[in-house]
Amino acid sequence: MYCEIVPYWQALEKAEALCPRGVILSGGPDSVCRTGSPELPAAFYDRGLPLLGICYGMQLLAKSLGGTVVPGNQREFGKATNELMEAGALFDGMPARFQVWMSHGDRVEALPAGFRPLSRSGDVIAAMADESRKAYGLQFHPEVVHTHNGLKILENFLVRICGCSRDWTTTAFIETAIAEIAARVGDARALCGLSGGVDSSVAALLVHRAIGDRLTCVFVDNGLLRKNEYASVLQNYRERLHLKVIGVDAGDRFLSRLTDVDDPESKRKIIGEEFIRVFEDQARKLGELRFLVQGTLYPDVIESTSVRGPSATIKSHHNVGGLPTDMQLEMIEPLRELFKDEVRRVGEKLGMDASFVHRQPFPGPGLAVRILGPVTRQRLDLLREADAIVQEEMESAGLTRQLWQSFAVLLPVRSVGVMGDDRTYENVAALRVVTSVDGMTADWVRLPFEVLERISNRIVNEVRGINRVVYDITSKPPGTIEWE
Ligand code: XMP
Repeated sequence: MYCEIVPYWQALEKAEALCPRGVILSGGPDSVCRTGSPELPAAFYDRGLPLLGICYGMQLLAKSLGGTVVPGNQREFGKATNELMEAGALFDGMPARFQVWMSHGDRVEALPAGFRPLSRSGDVIAAMADESRKAYGLQFHPEVVHTHNGLKILENFLVRICGCSRDWTTTAFIETAIAEIAARVGDARALCGLSGGVDSSVAALLVHRAIGDRLTCVFVDNGLLRKNEYASVLQNYRERLHLKVIGVDAGDRFLSRLTDVDDPESKRKIIGEEFIRVFEDQARKLGELRFLVQGTLYPDVIESTSVRGPSATIKSHHNVGGLPTDMQLEMIEPLRELFKDEVRRVGEKLGMDASFVHRQPFPGPGLAVRILGPVTRQRLDLLREADAIVQEEMESAGLTRQLWQSFAVLLPVRSVGVMGDDRTYENVAALRVVTSVDGMTADWVRLPFEVLERISNRIVNEVRGINRVVYDITSKPPGTIEWE
């Protein structure tokens, strides 16, 4: 089913423009008891749209329609039991009691006229409904995995109450996107910078389906890629995905600009600037181009929209941040309505290998932010070898797909060791292995000791120049995933 996320201050305007089948009012950290907290104009409620308020959304609904919300004495956070009083359409097909996840301070005390409680959790009203106006509220969060039947509740709201049908499928999306791109581009030509990652690759594939070889892609070797990555990714683009790709071997350009630079932010800036230069050089050589393809995803679009309104500072997302401004190309962003899991499904439907579609994220500045201190060819080679061992061992332990990232970091210290009868004084590598849902928070993985042991043994034995391996046990926050 197709949905869009809009900030509350646009809700009325969007409700008029998009004619949605229904609206879900999300939760949020604020309190409706606080003056100045987010509200919706009265006219919004008069439109007769089916509504589902979740947590803050339920409290807002209750307060706005004439009920009472009171500040709680203490926050309720964690597992609770939803005890049904009446199933109604929302809880249809669900057991009388099931586990839900709560996270709230305030609670609804008196329901607005026309509403009935559908369930409770202890003495808290857990769900309310006014079926005549198709308005519902949930105090708990149906969207989290700890809430049982959560997806079913959302499905009941969307299908039974709003009357939505499931026609927003991967196939339908691909067909529509290709037709739209073909119509928009006409006979013109387009350019796409490939990063080796999933998003830019899927975007390029979609556009290629629409306009064929009038799409030219550029894949830059910045000298900071992993072992064999440039050659294998380029080969995959050309031979398996049949894209027209110009490979640019620009390692020297990047490395010479990075000489003696050890400040992380400087490294990132230099790499970003140099990438734009290389890309511009290629675009100039190609001549007449009208469109630029970008793998912008829906989360990038949301992050670029201010929650508090147009006056607040807007964060520009990193995919667009550093692009040449004087090139005056029109943007094609075929994935801007999709989340990452949807992009992966589109990629698979378009014929990408599962191993490519499920690649772990890799930062734009590459290994430069995993070599602490100055980046040199010799240190890059050391890290590449160590990292390749990490990838092989994680793969053979069957762990790669379950993780957000697993990689090696080269530290700017040396330590003493002993090998055979010789004293060594060599580099230290750190191992970083994390799980995460979106990269915003992350936890270090409790890897089996045997896997840690194999990785450590192999790196110390096979990579000359590294004699010690340590494991990073810092979560994010307070640590970041990358070390720089
Ligand atoms: P941090 O280190 O901030 O990373 O916890 C969060 C996620 O973002 C990736 N990352 C980047 N990705 N360009 C990217 O495309 C970058 O400059 C960049 N820096 C970090 C990182 O690998 C992790 O998955």
